[in-house]
Amino acid sequence: MVPKKIEEAFSEQIKHELESAYIYLSMAAYFDAEGFEGMGRWMRAQVQEEVTHAMRFYKHIIERGGHVKLHPLAMPQQDWQLPLAAFEAAYKHEQFITAKIDDLVKLAQAEGDHASRTLLQWFVDEQVEEEASTSKVVQELKLVGNEGRGILMIDRELGARTFVLAPDLAALYAQPAAAGA
Ligand code: FEO
Repeated sequence: MVPKKIEEAFSEQIKHELESAYIYLSMAAYFDAEGFEGMGRWMRAQVQEEVTHAMRFYKHIIERGGHVKLHPLAMPQQDWQLPLAAFEAAYKHEQFITAKIDDLVKLAQAEGDHASRTLLQWFVDEQVEEEASTSKVVQELKLVGNEGRGILMIDRELGARTFVLAPDLAALYAQPAAAGA
């Protein structure tokens, strides 16, 4: 059975992860409207990834006999001055999420909930990557400044990103086997 405090905190984290998806979808819409196809594609892949983050918490609560309680999502920012401003906001948001994960680690420790600590270790490692990937784009965009060719090269590079569903989550989305198959 999942401890009540963990159930509530993980439900709250589902909201943060879905808000992340919502923020990145808003950034994708900004990039797509501005003609930065690669950055739009990168953000759309990020949206998918954030939804799977929410689903990791969802799966954990359900598998341990708990109840998921969904919360309303905040309205995301709709516009940014430049690609750099959007990626700076993404990096800042990832730092916010890291702080939330750190709080959850402390809670799981206080509750003596080893199963949650194992799940959260995955998120601790993931946040290192999330901060690194957004920070890298910020550094690259700062380096090229207003130079159009440089921005287009970064756009092309980011457009190579694809979303791949992690194998351990595949069962959440798989079709049930047909009867008699
Ligand atoms: Fe789910 Fe980007 O942290």
